[in-house]
Amino acid sequence: MKPGIALSIAAALLLATAASARADAAAGAAAFKAGQCTACHYTEGPAREVTIEDQLAKTGPELWYAGSKFQRPWLEAWLQDPKPIRPLKYNSLTEDNPGDHPVLAAADAASITDFLMSLVSDAVETGVIKPKKHPKGRLIFTKKMPCSGCHRFPTKKPFKGGRSGPSLVGAGERLNPDWIYAYLKSTKVFKPVRMMPVFVGLLSDKDMKFVAAYVASFK
Ligand code: HEC
Ligand code: HEC
Repeated sequence: MKPGIALSIAAALLLATAASARADAAAGAAAFKAGQCTACHYTEGPAREVTIEDQLAKTGPELWYAGSKFQRPWLEAWLQDPKPIRPLKYNSLTEDNPGDHPVLAAADAASITDFLMSLVSDAVETGVIKPKKHPKGRLIFTKKMPCSGCHRFPTKKPFKGGRSGPSLVGAGERLNPDWIYAYLKSTKVFKPVRMMPVFVGLLSDKDMKFVAAYVASFK
């Protein structure tokens, strides 16, 4: 085969793959609408919340950067068997999470996952953070900074850590390590209105990488 022909076949294949990924994402977007997911989640960035009222009016977390935030296998599995992530009900500081999230059948979960994984943020640089039980990251998470006061994390005792933030138990399967770092570095891009403090200025860039690697190692 002439190299030119091989190349154009490769290009055609690539185009076909890209087109089918787009088609799956489009089917997923339609399923997302049909499933009433839009009642509680918005999927177009950038972040819309300006005031605390905007945040309190939301009935579920924003998903416009879902493809940067989540790991695909976790997302597809969770949509079929959603277990509480936030120990407290969304936007509440007192009520327990009722654990009543809509449940999807496998086919809808797959196509909606295609759609959600296509939603990415350019504030997330890829390939920067490798999960690691870094001693410095551990020290920051458990002692130097108040992270563990708000977040559950895995230890020998099943439920160590606070309840006001999302549980970070299983964060290594759920979250993209690079997103964790981007979230600490560019918190306002993702959460213009938030309860979690901004750590820019409190943590050096290196320390943010250590703590992101540490959180990304949580089983
Ligand atoms: C009545 C409101 C409501 C509806 C409808 C709803 N969700 Fe949710 N969703 C939530 C809440 C609240 C959470 C947070 C759950 C938790 O933390 O345990 C959530 C969490 C999620 C998450 C994880 C987000 C994160 O940042 O942790 C995904 C993904 C998701 N929903 C997708 C969907 C899809 C897909 C549909 C449609 C089939 C849907 N949701 C319908 C309220 C809703
Ligand atoms: C005062 C409580 C508080 C402290 C301290 C805190 N967080 Fe958070 N964190 C939250 C809350 C609440 C959220 C959910 C989003 C929001 O409203 O900011 C969150 C979100 C997160 C998320 C995203 C989780 C998800 O599923 O969306 C990560 C990762 C995270 N925090 C890591 C950390 C790390 C690392 C530290 C310490 C350097 C820390 N947090 C300190 C309350 C806190």
